Amino acid sequence: MRRYPADCEEELILDETPLKIRPIRADDLAEELRFVHELSPDTAYHRFFSPVRELSAEMAWRFTHVDYHSTMALIALDRTQSPANMVGVARYAATAGASCCEFAVTITDRWQHRGLGLVLMQRLITYARRKGYSSMVGAVMQDNMGMRQLATRLGFRAHTDPEDPATLQMRLALEAEEKVATAAG
Ligand SMILES: CC(C)(COP(=O)(O)OP(=O)(O)OC[C@H]1O[C@@H](n2cnc3c(N)ncnc32)[C@H](O)[C@@H]1OP(=O)(O)O)[C@@H](O)C(=O)NCCC(=O)NCCS
Repeated sequence: MRRYPADCEEELILDETPLKIRPIRADDLAEELRFVHELSPDTAYHRFFSPVRELSAEMAWRFTHVDYHSTMALIALDRTQSPANMVGVARYAATAGASCCEFAVTITDRWQHRGLGLVLMQRLITYARRKGYSSMVGAVMQDNMGMRQLATRLGFRAHTDPEDPATLQMRLALEAEEKVATAAG
């Protein structure tokens, strides 16, 4: 496992609530299980594309043991709770070609529509760009208007998948801004 990127830790106030954003750690495993257990069926279905109610031990391990390069997850903790509890997560995993990564994002139900999905995805995109990925992709169900809107707002373009009409592939080019500026100048 690579070095924990402490420079991604951030305290912020969102919707009048103090939150901490930080990279996930191996000791978040129990909290990751609780987070998924408390999702509504609808939220879990949109995230996992199946009626998942609990994470398997293998998935919980994998989700919390990231290497901060080919796999990364940023979590948001509600600091008004004691202990602070996880209310959202945005993650990516490198795809086979390695220059592209695939995202997934989940916000716990009571925190949806409060700007947290946008905040976590913006940070994840910045991190992936810094790591040199050239694009980010993600599968989104056609009926998931919330995620479609959020992805569009972040600059993703939607592509239909001929093999799976129920799903849209969202894609964002991540070319480093400096490279674009150099090419133009
Ligand atoms: C989709 C999801 C990540 C959005 O997160 P969120 O924190 O609720 O979104 P935000 O509050 O940051 O919204 C940001 C923008 O996204 C859009 N948006 C979010 N939810 C929306 C909804 N239900 N309908 C329409 N637009 C929506 C809006 O443009 C919004 O901007 P605005 O508030 O200025 O209108 C969240 O609802 C979720 O976890 N859903 C279940 C899991 C899932 O679908 N994951 C995606 C597949 S990996």
